Amino acid sequence: MQLTRKGLWGGIIREFRDFLPEISDDAITTLLEGNTPLIECDNLKDIFGDIRLLLKYEGLNPTGSFKDRGMTMAVSKAREENAKAIICASTGNTSAAAAAYAAKAGMKAFVLVPDGAIAMGKLSQAIMHGAMVLQIKGNFDDALTIVKEITGDYPVKMVNSINPFRIEGQKTGAFEVCEHLGYAPTYHFLPVGNAGNITAYWKGYKQYHHENIITHLPKMMGFQADGAAPIVRGRPVEHPETIATAIKIGNPASWDSALRARDESGGVIEAVTDEEILAAYKLLAAREGVYCEPASAASLAGAIKMKKDGVLNDGDTVVCTLTGHGLKDPDIALKSSEKPVKVPAETKKILKVMGF
Ligand code: F0G
Repeated sequence: MQLTRKGLWGGIIREFRDFLPEISDDAITTLLEGNTPLIECDNLKDIFGDIRLLLKYEGLNPTGSFKDRGMTMAVSKAREENAKAIICASTGNTSAAAAAYAAKAGMKAFVLVPDGAIAMGKLSQAIMHGAMVLQIKGNFDDALTIVKEITGDYPVKMVNSINPFRIEGQKTGAFEVCEHLGYAPTYHFLPVGNAGNITAYWKGYKQYHHENIITHLPKMMGFQADGAAPIVRGRPVEHPETIATAIKIGNPASWDSALRARDESGGVIEAVTDEEILAAYKLLAAREGVYCEPASAASLAGAIKMKKDGVLNDGDTVVCTLTGHGLKDPDIALKSSEKPVKVPAETKKILKVMGF
């Protein structure tokens, strides 16, 4: 095992430099992303028995999602090439990360988001970091098509995950899992939207395997929302629908590489319903103390499904990536939970409500 950590964490580019494309020191744009915790699940034994279940909590990145890993690479590279502006289409998290890293690099960010379909926390981030937020009357897939057209002809660098440097940065999530565990898990569960992250994790695992840092590879287990499951159905979904807005995508850009990750690893790409996603989302918050956004919980929902289907066995090590922080989307939390109890400001009455 080769440990890369030395003293204080320097962000993923400095920590994993030997495994990433070269970037000049002057261009590195970092908010010290990465080094997120791999949290052991203690309270779900009734569901998982003797399976070792761990959560890669990517919500603890600087802008609250895994996108920071890819964005530090994409923006640093853009800076190396003297780009003055970046652009992306987004269901919210990419726009938040793009806006923050562009601010750090002194660049302009343009972000195209589906009007009314991104979580409030993410929108507030893009605005606060000074991006030009363009809300389009269309969905994510429409936004991505427009962004591709624009970047062909104008001096703005595209930072969606079609940009290979995004994938390079995001693969460091897999490196960290291996370094924390000392080996690769048996199964790695991820939500799938535009399919960049499953592509990136698989690339990372394969690279560590090639370098003999790990001896076996995990099976990659991708989960789409049932109403937005083009890869599962085998064709684009024109009007994707799901409460998990982050993965409300009907025509993923990294479709082919997601299929390769699935097939080369012997994994699956399947769908979970919004009900299953919400149940997993609440379970994590209430039983493990971990608050993620709904799309993130598709990974755990998938693991629960695979356990029920008899795919997972005692002794397996299972990692679920929780891609974004719960605070990104407080509306859905409040809508899907019990309301706070209204009480008079009187100790006696409050004690009664408390059951004492
Ligand atoms: N989870 C969250 C919280 C996301 O924001 C995304 C993607 C995914 C999972 C899926 O990852 O696209 O690599 O398969 N969000 C993108 C965005 C599309 O614009 O923020 P993927």
